[in-house]
Formats: sequence, C-alpha cells, structure tokens
Amino acid sequence: MRVTVNRKAHFNAAHRLYNNEWTDARNASVFGKCANPNYHGHNYDLIVSVTGEINPDTGFVMDMKVLKKLIREDIEEQFDHKNLNEEVKEFKTLNPTAENISVVIWNKLRNKIDQNLDLSVTLYETPRNFVTYNGG
Ligand code: NI
Repeated sequence: MRVTVNRKAHFNAAHRLYNNEWTDARNASVFGKCANPNYHGHNYDLIVSVTGEINPDTGFVMDMKVLKKLIREDIEEQFDHKNLNEEVKEFKTLNPTAENISVVIWNKLRNKIDQNLDLSVTLYETPRNFVTYNGG
C-alpha cells in the first residue's frame, strides 16, 4: 500500500533567463520579459511529494516534521529573497527556468530522503505555470 505525502513551501526569488551565446534580440524573443537584464521576481510555490509504504510502527510514510525541516533548511533558506543567477551556485551556469529549478531542488533533497521512498517536486512559477520533476 503505497501512499503519497505532500508538503507545500514557498519562496520569493529573482531571476533572469538568458543564453549568453545568443544576441540580446534572440534572448528577448525566446525568453520575453524573463530576459530583462535587471532581473525580476517570482513568488514560487513548491510541492514536495514523497511516496512509499506506510511504516507500521508510526503510521507514517515519512515524518512530516523531518520533511518540513529539510525543505526549510535546504530550499527555502537557500533560495528565498535571493537572486538565483547571482547568489545560488547551481545557477551560475544554468538558466534558472522553472524546469531547472525543480531539478536542482530534487537533487538537493534526494540524498536526504530514504531511498525506499520516491520523490517528486512540483514548482509553480506562476499560479498557472508549473513543472514537475520526479528524477526521470
Ligand atoms: Ni521569470
């Protein structure tokens, strides 16, 4: 009996999307307002989902206190009120799209969660635009 537990989190962060091998015009064409050289912010909503068997001793798939602390320390405190391009090392050379941010978050959490549990990350960049990564 496999059950999924979910934890919501939130951070505000600034970014700029661009490919430095492209002209400004091409960046503006592909990334639109997200290519603005002066950066801009998003209110990111994050859902971390952990799937596995219910532990018969606790009745938990995973202790949510542990998951909450992991997300707070490893994600929110690292990303909140940061300029992702300038202040988060993973994005020095990686475009901070919602896709890439979700992969970075997944990688940060994966080794800290029991390997018997499956991990999925859903990241909302806007209320209507969101991406999901599950390590595939
Ligand atoms: Ni943007």
